[in-house]
Formats: sequence, structure tokens, C-alpha cells
Amino acid sequence: MCKPGRRHWLAILLAAFAAAFFLATPVNAEPAARSVLVLGGTGQLGRAILAELSATHAVVSVFARENSSRAGIPQQAGEGRTIEWLVGDLLNEADIDRAFAGRRIDIVINAVRVEDGDVHFYEKIMGPLLRNSRRAGVQQFIHHSAVGAGDNVEKFRNLGWERVPGIFERLKDQGIAETLLRESGVPYTIIRNARLYPASQPATGKAVLTEDDSVISPMTRADLARLTVGCIGDPRCVNQSFHVSDPSLRWPLP
Ligand SMILES: NC(=O)c1ccc[n+]([C@@H]2O[C@H](COP(=O)([O-])OP(=O)(O)OC[C@H]3O[C@@H](n4cnc5c(N)ncnc54)[C@H](OP(=O)(O)O)[C@@H]3O)[C@@H](O)[C@H]2O)c1
Repeated sequence: MCKPGRRHWLAILLAAFAAAFFLATPVNAEPAARSVLVLGGTGQLGRAILAELSATHAVVSVFARENSSRAGIPQQAGEGRTIEWLVGDLLNEADIDRAFAGRRIDIVINAVRVEDGDVHFYEKIMGPLLRNSRRAGVQQFIHHSAVGAGDNVEKFRNLGWERVPGIFERLKDQGIAETLLRESGVPYTIIRNARLYPASQPATGKAVLTEDDSVISPMTRADLARLTVGCIGDPRCVNQSFHVSDPSLRWPLP
């Protein structure tokens, strides 16, 4: 009979390590639920995003102003968890700091739209949001921007946008926000939208994300929300900028 050699003992040792590893790892271990912070959750797109999130395992919090209407927003997120409301104004840096303080936030979804014509709105809010996101170790910042943001406007010069007062200043502001995000070091997904159908319009299920930045297409907020939530944790969406295409919809609205 031959004596067990060094290789033999090494093999036994490796087998013992492997057995210990598998015993310590529960079979079908669920990944920890992601903690998602929604900005603009009381808005039309934000509400659609909350509805999509309710079908996931996510732990959801919403940052909203004190007087924002929460009417019609279910207080439950996925798996019967209660939505946490963080009260503040995004134009107030201290409110943003307070929302992030001591809280685990894995994903930020920005569905905010400026309504008072401040052409520096996005530039103002992105600084504190990104500083806090970096510090909190946010894994993905999903930002809703607009077709035509920054230099992208050059691709849409023939659409008569010059007739819309202030649009070029607002698109410039959106472009600055995108640049701040891309340069922040926080993993990002930018989804540029346009030509939104009324919030009551149901999803077509036909909208897709495209890297073709010459696309301008109508879309429903419901589809946009589905695409947004579908991007959470998807490596194909990380550090990418998308437009949306839905060939099943007409523009102008029928
Ligand atoms: N609507 C369009 O035609 C259009 C076109 C292109 C792109 N987009 C983009 O689509 C996204 C959503 O649009 P939407 O029409 O669905 O938005 P919306 O219904 O107007 O909702 C805007 C949201 O932003 C919140 N908000 C605004 N200022 C805020 C502040 N200072 N602090 C905290 N929250 C603030 C609002 O809160 P309150 O509930 O308190 O008002 C609301 O929840 C945005 O990213 C927008 O840029 C929209």
C-alpha cells in the first residue's frame, strides 16, 4: 500500500474547505433587499415608479416637500413594507443632507421636474445629491433627464423648439446636471425622456431603451417607470445614457 503523499493531504484539505463553505452558505439565499430613494415620488412619473417598485423587494423611501400631495399614493411598498417619507425641499441643501444622514441608500431615482422656470434648478440640486450619494455609497443613481439635454440639442435643431420660451436654458441646465452625474464617480443611468403621454395612459409594453441619441419618441410614464425599475442593478444600464423608443405611439397626441 502506498503512503498518502502531500498532494493527497492537500486534496483532503481543499475538500474540507469547500464543504465548510457550502454548509455556511444557505441554499437559495435571497440577496438583501435594495434600499431605494425616490425623488419626485409625488409627481406623475414618480407615482408610476412607486407603483412599479411595489412589485419588487425594494425598501422604498420618498423625498418630498412638506406640502406635496400624497393623495392616491399607496403607503405600502413591496411585501407590505411601509414607504418612508423624508420631508424636505431639494433646493435646501440641509434637507438633502438630513435625508441621507445615517440611512442606507443603495439606489437613487430622480424623477423630479422643475415647475417654476428656474433655469439653474438641476445644477443646484445635483451638487448636494451627488455629494451625499458618494458618501452613502449609492450603487446606482437613475436620473430622468430630457431629450436635447446639453449638446444633444444639436440633434434636434429642426423641431421648432425656438418657439418654446426658455427651453434652451432648461436643456442647458439638464446638460449640466448630466455632466455633474457622469463625473461624480457615482454609478449612473441617465434616461432622457420627451413627449410624455398623459399619466392616465396605460403602458404599451413596447417602449425600449436605446443608446441612439438621435431618437425622439413619444412614451407613456407607465412604460418609463417599467424601464426605470428594470434598470435597477442591471449591469447593462450602469454608466449608460439612454433615449426611449416606442414605435407603437403617435405624436402629436391623436
Ligand atoms: N412633463 C414633461 O413634458 C417632461 C418632458 C421632458 C422630460 N420630463 C422629465 O420627466 C420627469 C418627470 O416629469 P413629470 O411630468 O412626471 O413630473 P411632475 O408630475 O411635474 O412631478 C415633478 C415632481 O418633482 C417634485 N419637485 C419639484 N420641485 C421640487 C423641489 N424643489 N423639492 C422636492 N421635490 C420637487 C414635485 O413635487 P410636488 O409634488 O411637491 O410638486 C413632483 O413630485 C422629470 O425628470 C422631467 O424632467 C418631463
